Amino acid sequence: MLVGGKAYRAVNWHGGGDGAVQWIEQRLLPHRFEQRLSADPEQLALAIEQMQIRGAPSIGAAAAFGLALAWREKRARFFDHWLPRFRATRPTAVNLFDACSVMERCAAGEPSAQDMIDRAVAYADAEADANRRMGLHLAECLAVGERRILTHCNAGWLAAVDWGTATAGIYQLAAAGESPLVRVDETRPRLQGARLTAWELHQQGIECRIQADAAAAWMMAMGQVDAIVVGADRIAANGDVANKIGTYALSLAAREHGVPLYVAAPSSTFDAGCRRGADIPIEERDDEEVLFMDGIDGDGHMRRIRVAADGVAASNPAFDVTPWSHITAIISESGPWRP
Ligand code: MRU
Repeated sequence: MLVGGKAYRAVNWHGGGDGAVQWIEQRLLPHRFEQRLSADPEQLALAIEQMQIRGAPSIGAAAAFGLALAWREKRARFFDHWLPRFRATRPTAVNLFDACSVMERCAAGEPSAQDMIDRAVAYADAEADANRRMGLHLAECLAVGERRILTHCNAGWLAAVDWGTATAGIYQLAAAGESPLVRVDETRPRLQGARLTAWELHQQGIECRIQADAAAAWMMAMGQVDAIVVGADRIAANGDVANKIGTYALSLAAREHGVPLYVAAPSSTFDAGCRRGADIPIEERDDEEVLFMDGIDGDGHMRRIRVAADGVAASNPAFDVTPWSHITAIISESGPWRP
């Protein structure tokens, strides 16, 4: 999608067979737009762990590219070190494991370095194309008078290589000449909504308003939300959806107020091996994310400030599970799935 009128992807292969992986350093947004370039697979693994690259399809694509680098640079340790290394970077988004399995199967055929790069590029391209097609299906749902759209976290192109998952429908709606208003939950503790989604929408010229997470239910009660659209990190076989913490609370309020809740996710997010939501591993992250906040000061310097009293502890589950019965439809590239 566009940044300053120029097209970018969250993560991509840069150059030919002797090229490297390029990604957007998401921790700096919206204050600084910088890309990173590396041919070292460990740098890719760290970028996922440190959330320079984040969002389910983007971390899947990053792992695919990282494993292509590992095959080219450090092949002897591909199976015993690099596959487990990438699988251990984050636990909840199943796209990561899907991408690792795709690259493992490719490597089992003793391919050339170029074959592995081509496989990773094809994986990322397929994710971007799935999002584009998903967006067309989602836009059809949203076109029925549902134009004040609430979204949570960043389910945009930064999270999903290109187009986004939830935002793909919004971008397709805007491309069709509609004027959606997007209500963006700030999404504590890391503020992916305030920092990333609002920035993305602004870059595409789409009207949006950031709101405190706690305002969401009240905005629904006031009739200010026509539909909710979120992404997913893992969808169990029974349709339960793991997504950013706060999605479950949104689903409860949506039910109470009769607001449709759509989940947008490509097929790489479906985990047929996971029977129900209770089986999905939920990432518990460092309590510093709750106790401190990052931002930019008046002189343009990135700063970290403590917001809680010294010595106070925090809990920080990064995801929750929304039961299938709370969801109006899950939209994938093959169309809508309803309960
Ligand atoms: O912890 P993050 O920022 O990686 O979490 C991302 C989300 O929860 C997104 O909503 C999710 O990946 C779905 S959209 C691609």
